[in-house]
Amino acid sequence: MFEKNKLSSPIAEFNGVSFRYGHGSEILKDIQLTLDPGSFHFMTGESGAGKTSLLGLFYMNHLPTRGRVRLFGKAVDTLSRAEKAQIRRQIGVVFQDYRLLNHLNAFDNVALPLRIAGVKETEIKRHVSELLAWVGLEKQLKAFPPELSGGEKQRIAIARAVINRPQLLVADEPTGNVDDAMAKRLLYLFLELNKLGTTIVIATHNQNLIKHFRFDQLHLSHGRLERINPNIRNNGQ
Ligand SMILES: Nc1ncnc2c1ncn2[C@@H]1O[C@H](COP(=O)(O)OP(=O)(O)OP(=O)(O)O)[C@@H](O)[C@H]1O
Ligand SMILES: [Mg+2]
Repeated sequence: MFEKNKLSSPIAEFNGVSFRYGHGSEILKDIQLTLDPGSFHFMTGESGAGKTSLLGLFYMNHLPTRGRVRLFGKAVDTLSRAEKAQIRRQIGVVFQDYRLLNHLNAFDNVALPLRIAGVKETEIKRHVSELLAWVGLEKQLKAFPPELSGGEKQRIAIARAVINRPQLLVADEPTGNVDDAMAKRLLYLFLELNKLGTTIVIATHNQNLIKHFRFDQLHLSHGRLERINPNIRNNGQ
Protein backbone atom coordinates (compact mmCIF):
# COMPACT_ATOMS: atom_id res chain seq x y z
CA MET A 1 0.00 0.00 0.00
CA PHE A 2 2.93 2.35 0.73
CA GLU A 3 6.43 2.79 -0.74
CA LYS A 4 9.65 2.63 1.27
CA ASN A 5 11.26 5.64 3.05
CA LYS A 6 15.01 6.23 3.24
CA LEU A 7 16.31 8.38 6.16
CA SER A 8 19.22 7.77 8.52
CA SER A 9 19.71 10.85 10.82
CA PRO A 10 17.53 11.19 13.97
CA ILE A 11 13.94 12.18 13.27
CA ALA A 12 13.61 14.15 16.49
CA GLU A 13 16.02 15.23 19.22
CA PHE A 14 14.96 16.94 22.44
CA ASN A 15 17.69 18.53 24.51
CA GLY A 16 16.83 19.79 28.01
CA VAL A 17 13.27 20.55 26.90
CA SER A 18 10.81 22.07 29.35
CA PHE A 19 7.36 23.37 28.59
CA ARG A 20 4.65 25.40 30.34
CA TYR A 21 1.46 27.03 29.06
CA GLY A 22 1.72 30.82 29.58
CA HIS A 23 2.68 31.49 33.19
CA GLY A 24 1.36 28.12 34.41
CA SER A 25 3.46 25.49 36.14
CA GLU A 26 6.00 23.42 34.22
CA ILE A 27 4.28 20.45 32.54
CA LEU A 28 7.35 18.93 30.88
CA LYS A 29 10.66 19.02 32.68
CA ASP A 30 14.13 18.66 31.20
CA ILE A 31 13.21 16.11 28.54
CA GLN A 32 16.07 14.34 26.73
CA LEU A 33 14.91 12.27 23.82
CA THR A 34 16.12 10.95 20.49
CA LEU A 35 13.79 9.27 18.04
CA ASP A 36 15.69 7.11 15.59
CA PRO A 37 14.38 6.73 12.07
CA GLY A 38 12.07 3.77 11.79
CA SER A 39 11.44 3.51 15.53
CA PHE A 40 7.99 2.82 17.00
CA HIS A 41 7.02 4.15 20.43
CA PHE A 42 4.01 4.21 22.64
CA MET A 43 3.65 7.30 24.81
CA THR A 44 2.04 6.61 28.17
CA GLY A 45 1.21 8.44 31.37
CA GLU A 46 -1.93 9.19 33.28
CA SER A 47 -4.50 11.72 32.13
CA GLY A 48 -3.01 15.20 32.45
CA ALA A 49 0.58 13.85 32.49
CA GLY A 50 1.44 15.94 29.40
CA LYS A 51 1.23 13.48 26.48
CA THR A 52 -0.70 15.83 24.17
CA SER A 53 1.60 18.70 25.18
CA LEU A 54 4.70 16.64 24.38
CA LEU A 55 3.27 15.44 21.06
CA GLY A 56 2.59 19.09 20.17
CA LEU A 57 6.33 19.73 20.29
CA PHE A 58 6.85 17.02 17.66
CA TYR A 59 4.75 18.85 15.10
CA MET A 60 5.61 22.43 16.12
CA ASN A 61 2.20 23.22 17.55
CA HIS A 62 4.21 25.09 20.18
CA LEU A 63 7.89 25.67 20.98
CA PRO A 64 9.66 24.60 24.18
CA THR A 65 9.86 27.11 27.02
CA ARG A 66 13.45 25.99 27.63
CA GLY A 67 15.83 23.71 25.76
CA ARG A 68 15.89 22.81 22.08
CA VAL A 69 13.91 20.59 19.74
CA ARG A 70 15.44 19.40 16.47
CA LEU A 71 13.31 17.80 13.81
CA PHE A 72 14.97 16.07 10.87
CA GLY A 73 18.27 17.56 12.11
CA LYS A 74 17.04 21.19 12.17
CA ALA A 75 16.56 23.31 15.31
CA VAL A 76 12.88 24.29 15.16
CA ASP A 77 13.45 27.70 16.78
CA THR A 78 15.65 28.78 13.85
CA LEU A 79 13.37 27.75 10.99
CA SER A 80 11.92 30.12 8.41
CA ARG A 81 8.20 29.85 7.61
CA ALA A 82 9.01 27.99 4.40
CA GLU A 83 11.26 25.51 6.23
CA LYS A 84 8.57 24.94 8.87
CA ALA A 85 5.98 24.26 6.18
CA GLN A 86 8.37 21.89 4.43
CA ILE A 87 8.98 19.93 7.67
CA ARG A 88 5.25 19.88 8.55
CA ARG A 89 4.54 18.18 5.23
CA GLN A 90 6.64 15.24 6.41
CA ILE A 91 4.67 14.81 9.63
CA GLY A 92 1.29 13.11 9.88
CA VAL A 93 -0.80 13.97 12.94
CA VAL A 94 -3.84 12.20 14.38
CA PHE A 95 -5.35 14.70 16.83
CA GLN A 96 -7.07 13.53 20.01
CA ASP A 97 -10.15 15.52 18.87
CA TYR A 98 -9.79 14.45 15.16
CA ARG A 99 -10.01 17.98 13.60
CA LEU A 100 -11.73 16.82 10.43
CA LEU A 101 -13.15 19.38 8.02
CA ASN A 102 -16.92 19.15 8.45
CA HIS A 103 -17.72 20.58 5.01
CA LEU A 104 -15.73 17.81 3.26
CA ASN A 105 -16.93 14.21 3.06
CA ALA A 106 -14.84 11.28 4.32
CA PHE A 107 -13.17 10.73 0.93
CA ASP A 108 -12.24 14.40 0.49
CA ASN A 109 -10.93 14.71 4.05
CA VAL A 110 -8.54 11.82 3.43
CA ALA A 111 -7.67 13.02 -0.10
CA LEU A 112 -6.69 16.49 1.09
CA PRO A 113 -2.97 15.87 1.76
CA LEU A 114 -2.62 14.21 -1.66
CA ARG A 115 -4.43 17.06 -3.43
CA ILE A 116 -2.14 19.58 -1.71
CA ALA A 117 0.83 17.52 -2.92
CA GLY A 118 -0.52 17.64 -6.50
CA VAL A 119 -1.14 13.91 -6.90
CA LYS A 120 -3.25 12.89 -9.94
CA GLU A 121 -6.97 12.33 -9.30
CA THR A 122 -6.92 8.77 -10.69
CA GLU A 123 -4.14 7.91 -8.24
CA ILE A 124 -6.00 9.67 -5.39
CA LYS A 125 -9.18 7.70 -6.09
CA ARG A 126 -7.40 4.37 -5.99
CA HIS A 127 -5.29 5.13 -2.94
CA VAL A 128 -7.99 6.79 -0.79
CA SER A 129 -10.58 4.10 -1.58
CA GLU A 130 -8.11 1.35 -0.71
CA LEU A 131 -7.15 2.95 2.60
CA LEU A 132 -10.74 3.73 3.65
CA ALA A 133 -11.67 0.11 2.87
CA TRP A 134 -8.79 -1.07 5.05
CA VAL A 135 -10.16 0.91 8.01
CA GLY A 136 -13.67 -0.48 7.34
CA LEU A 137 -15.23 2.67 5.90
CA GLU A 138 -15.79 1.71 2.26
CA LYS A 139 -19.53 2.44 2.65
CA GLN A 140 -19.00 5.87 4.25
CA LEU A 141 -16.90 7.54 1.54
CA LYS A 142 -19.56 10.19 0.89
CA ALA A 143 -20.58 10.78 4.52
CA PHE A 144 -19.72 14.09 6.20
CA PRO A 145 -18.06 14.05 9.65
CA PRO A 146 -21.15 15.28 11.58
CA GLU A 147 -23.05 12.20 10.30
CA LEU A 148 -20.42 9.76 11.56
CA SER A 149 -19.76 8.07 14.91
CA GLY A 150 -16.73 8.94 17.05
CA GLY A 151 -14.92 5.76 16.00
CA GLU A 152 -15.65 6.39 12.31
CA LYS A 153 -14.33 9.95 12.56
CA GLN A 154 -11.26 8.62 14.33
CA ARG A 155 -10.55 6.20 11.48
CA ILE A 156 -10.90 8.99 8.91
CA ALA A 157 -8.45 11.09 10.93
CA ILE A 158 -6.01 8.16 10.90
CA ALA A 159 -6.41 7.61 7.17
CA ARG A 160 -5.80 11.31 6.50
CA ALA A 161 -2.65 11.26 8.64
CA VAL A 162 -1.09 8.25 6.91
CA ILE A 163 -2.28 8.71 3.30
CA ASN A 164 0.86 10.51 2.12
CA ARG A 165 3.21 8.20 4.00
CA PRO A 166 4.82 10.77 6.32
CA GLN A 167 8.36 10.37 7.68
CA LEU A 168 6.96 10.86 11.19
CA LEU A 169 3.50 9.91 12.42
CA VAL A 170 2.30 11.40 15.70
CA ALA A 171 -0.99 9.92 16.90
CA ASP A 172 -2.80 11.08 20.04
CA GLU A 173 -5.08 8.33 21.42
CA PRO A 174 -5.82 7.12 17.87
CA THR A 175 -7.80 4.11 19.08
CA GLY A 176 -9.66 5.76 21.97
CA ASN A 177 -13.07 5.35 20.29
CA VAL A 178 -12.89 1.95 18.60
CA ASP A 179 -13.24 -1.59 19.96
CA ASP A 180 -10.23 -3.78 20.65
CA ALA A 181 -10.40 -5.70 17.36
CA MET A 182 -10.40 -2.46 15.34
CA ALA A 183 -7.68 -0.99 17.59
CA LYS A 184 -5.43 -3.93 16.71
CA ARG A 185 -6.27 -3.61 13.02
CA LEU A 186 -5.30 0.08 13.12
CA LEU A 187 -2.06 -0.79 14.90
CA TYR A 188 -1.27 -3.21 12.05
CA LEU A 189 -1.78 -0.34 9.62
CA PHE A 190 0.72 1.75 11.61
CA LEU A 191 3.03 -1.25 11.69
CA GLU A 192 2.92 -1.60 7.92
CA LEU A 193 3.81 2.06 7.57
CA ASN A 194 6.59 1.63 10.14
CA LYS A 195 8.09 -1.32 8.27
CA LEU A 196 8.45 0.96 5.29
CA GLY A 197 10.39 3.51 7.32
CA THR A 198 7.90 5.84 9.05
CA THR A 199 8.82 6.70 12.63
CA ILE A 200 5.78 6.40 14.87
CA VAL A 201 4.76 7.80 18.26
CA ILE A 202 1.36 6.82 19.63
CA ALA A 203 -0.07 8.19 22.87
CA THR A 204 -2.36 5.60 24.39
CA HIS A 205 -4.03 4.44 27.60
CA ASN A 206 -4.84 1.05 26.04
CA GLN A 207 -2.95 -1.54 28.09
CA ASN A 208 -4.09 -4.36 25.79
CA LEU A 209 -2.28 -2.74 22.86
CA ILE A 210 0.80 -1.97 24.93
CA LYS A 211 1.02 -5.58 26.09
CA HIS A 212 0.23 -7.05 22.69
CA PHE A 213 2.67 -5.00 20.59
CA ARG A 214 5.47 -4.45 23.16
CA PHE A 215 7.02 -1.37 21.55
CA ASP A 216 9.32 0.92 23.53
CA GLN A 217 7.39 3.21 25.84
CA LEU A 218 7.95 6.88 26.45
CA HIS A 219 6.37 7.22 29.88
CA LEU A 220 5.52 10.61 31.38
CA SER A 221 5.16 11.09 35.11
CA HIS A 222 5.34 14.38 37.03
CA GLY A 223 6.72 16.08 33.92
CA ARG A 224 9.64 13.68 33.55
CA LEU A 225 10.12 11.26 30.70
CA GLU A 226 11.22 7.70 31.26
CA ARG A 227 11.92 5.17 28.48
CA ILE A 228 10.65 1.69 29.15
CA ASN A 229 11.75 -1.26 27.04
CA PRO A 230 9.04 -3.90 27.62
CA ASN A 231 11.37 -6.69 26.52
CA ILE A 232 13.86 -6.13 29.33
CA ARG A 233 11.31 -5.59 32.12
CA ASN A 234 12.31 -7.78 34.99
CA ASN A 235 9.03 -8.29 36.79
CA GLY A 236 7.86 -11.57 35.34
CA GLN A 237 5.19 -9.99 33.05
N1 LIG B 1 -3.97 24.91 26.18
C1 LIG B 1 -3.68 24.73 27.47
N2 LIG B 1 -3.53 25.78 28.31
C2 LIG B 1 -3.21 25.60 29.61
N3 LIG B 1 -3.01 24.40 30.19
C3 LIG B 1 -3.16 23.31 29.40
C4 LIG B 1 -3.49 23.42 28.01
N4 LIG B 1 -3.56 22.16 27.49
C5 LIG B 1 -3.29 21.33 28.50
N5 LIG B 1 -3.04 22.00 29.65
C6 LIG B 1 -2.66 21.41 30.94
O1 LIG B 1 -1.45 20.70 30.76
C7 LIG B 1 -1.43 19.49 31.49
C8 LIG B 1 -1.11 18.34 30.54
O2 LIG B 1 -2.19 18.22 29.60
P1 LIG B 1 -2.13 17.24 28.37
O3 LIG B 1 -3.34 17.51 27.55
O4 LIG B 1 -0.81 17.38 27.71
O5 LIG B 1 -2.23 15.83 29.12
P2 LIG B 1 -2.46 14.37 28.53
O6 LIG B 1 -1.40 13.48 29.11
O7 LIG B 1 -2.54 14.44 27.05
O8 LIG B 1 -3.87 13.96 29.15
P3 LIG B 1 -5.02 12.98 28.54
O9 LIG B 1 -4.55 11.57 28.76
O10 LIG B 1 -6.22 13.30 29.41
O11 LIG B 1 -5.23 13.34 27.11
C9 LIG B 1 -2.79 19.37 32.18
O12 LIG B 1 -2.65 19.80 33.52
C10 LIG B 1 -3.66 20.35 31.40
O13 LIG B 1 -4.63 20.91 32.24
MG1 LIG C 1 -4.04 14.06 25.70
